[in-house]
Formats: sequence, structure tokens, C-alpha cells
Amino acid sequence: MRWALPGALKRGGVLAINRRNAHYTQFLNPRKQYPLVDDKLATKRLVMDSGISVPELYGLVEAPYQARNLDQILQERENFVIKPARGSGGKGILVFSGRYKRAYRLSNGHLMEAEELRHHVLDILGGLFSLGGQPDKAFVEEKVNFDPVFEAVSYQGVPDVRIIVFMAVPVMAMVRLPTRRSDGKANLHKGAVGVGVDMATGKTLGGVLGNAPVAEHPDTGHPIVGLQVPHWEMLLSLAARCGDLTGMGYLGVDLVLDRIKGPLLLELNARPGLNIQIANGAGLLPRLEEVRRERCRLREVEDRVRFSMERFAAL
Ligand SMILES: Nc1ncnc2c1ncn2[C@@H]1O[C@H](COP(=O)(O)OP(=O)(O)O)[C@@H](O)[C@H]1O
Ligand SMILES: [Mg+2]
Repeated sequence: MRWALPGALKRGGVLAINRRNAHYTQFLNPRKQYPLVDDKLATKRLVMDSGISVPELYGLVEAPYQARNLDQILQERENFVIKPARGSGGKGILVFSGRYKRAYRLSNGHLMEAEELRHHVLDILGGLFSLGGQPDKAFVEEKVNFDPVFEAVSYQGVPDVRIIVFMAVPVMAMVRLPTRRSDGKANLHKGAVGVGVDMATGKTLGGVLGNAPVAEHPDTGHPIVGLQVPHWEMLLSLAARCGDLTGMGYLGVDLVLDRIKGPLLLELNARPGLNIQIANGAGLLPRLEEVRRERCRLREVEDRVRFSMERFAAL
């Protein structure tokens, strides 16, 4: 695939939202490819066909009458997640980690009755959490058992790794750590901590909570700097492959590390947020420009991963 950019990019500095939209997402992300990334079920299908692992799909609710089948989908399961297929920013996601009598226990310890859960699923179908408020599907998937490396820096939820991929080359990454406020989810707008990652090594740099720098997790008090993200090179190559598979020039790839299954792809984002630059204390623009200049010589996934480890190392 080939990409072309309008005019010269500004040297140095931070990518802002207007420029992201005008020069990157709108320009480099083909319209017809959006459904592949805007719908989490379509993404699951796409990447699984290429041998990329994802959390197991337990069941799907497409129409209100199917909400009655929820008990059947959930069976005796204790650990599962309910999600809107076209949600974003963690909205509408419920993470469960137990049962008590006939109720389900959320990761924050609260109990939810079966009837309340059914209502939530109906809200998802009605489009309460979906992009543009369109009717949606709800699905149930396996809850990820996250790698213990992040145990001390996560509060009741699963951390994820966000990688920005430009022209199928990974350019910047962060680990996102759930907090008490983010309610089991690793989305920054929900109150998770974003921690920059050294592209060369996969070691964490400093973090941000909102727009303020942080060096410790706000709930656990544990330092968040200098942690090694496991399987780093594999995560970079998975991210690069997602760029190839989707044909999206500018993409946010969300990965999670399961302690048994290893790296899993959670979802893809066609309009990834820009706070990753604050978490890394670095602007995206110089990196994007460097990739654009040299992309033509970076054919294989391994070439692109090596390039990103060499060029985008933390100073
Ligand atoms: N299968 C799962 N197991 C555990 N936590 C999950 C799972 N899926 C999502 N989460 C939590 O919810 C967050 C948001 O999920 P994601 O699929 O990226 O949806 P969104 O589009 O809303 O960001 C994740 O970063 C993670 O913390
Ligand atoms: Mg996400």
C-alpha cells in the first residue's frame, strides 16, 4: 500500500487534533476501511483470519429478543466482559469477576442482578454507547487475566498497551493503567494513567493522569517508571501487522497481555487520542515525518519493527 501526504509536515512538535483529522485520519484512512476498525466484532474476525489472537468471544446479542439468552451465553462463567461492538472510550463496558447467588459481581465489587444486566444489554443495542448513537450489537468475551508485571500498578482492571501505527510502522506507545476512578477500564478519559514507553526497550517512562505528570500509581502508590513490558518486540510486530491488515495509514492498536495466552489484540482505533504525546513527553510529528521519508525501503514487518526500535528510542 502507498501513502502520500499533502505538503510538508511541520518540523518538530506536537500533533494537534485538527491536523490529525485533516492530514492523517481523514487523508490516510480510507473511508471504506472504517467499518473494520469501528466494529470490534469485525476487527476480531479480520485479525483472527490472520492468526492474531484475541480474547475469546463467548456470545453475541444482536436483537432485543436475544437478551433473554444471556443466561445461556454466560452459563456458569464468573469472569467475562460485556461490550458494545461500536463503543469507544470504555463506554458501556462492564467487567465481571465473580458471582454471588443469582447476581454478577463487577470488578469494583458491586453486584448486578440479572435483570439489570439485561437492561444494560438493551441499552447497548439501542445505541446508548455507540459511535453516533447508532443501533449496536452487544457481545460477551473472555476477561483477560493480565500479566502479573502490572499487578502493583493497576486498580481492579486490566491495563492495556496502546501503540500508534503510521503507514504500518509503530511510532509511539503507552501503557494505560486502570485506577479506582477508571472503574476497571484503561481508558484515559475514564481516569486511567497513561505511561510512556521506550520504543527501543519496552520499558516504561513517566506517566500522566489527566494532564498532570505522575511517577506513582495514584491508588497503589507503586512507582510506574522502569517497568518492562513483556513480549515487547512481539507487540510491535502485531501492531505493524494490524496496519497492513486494515490498510489504515494512521491507527491506534490496543493490546493486552494475558498471563497464559500472551499478547492479545483488544481493538483498533481509527481516531486515536493524542495524549500519548504527553505520556511520552514527545511529539508525534517528527516521527511521522521520519517514517514518511523512509517508508519505501521498509518492506517486511521485521524491517519496520527494527526501524521503530532504533529511531524512536527514548533519549
Ligand atoms: N476482555 C477484557 N478483559 C478485561 N478487561 C477488558 C477487556 N476488554 C476491555 N477491557 C478493559 O476495558 C478497556 C477498554 O476496552 P476496549 O476494548 O479498548 O474498548 P474501547 O473502545 O471502549 O476503548 C480496556 O483497556 C480494558 O481495560
Ligand atoms: Mg480501547
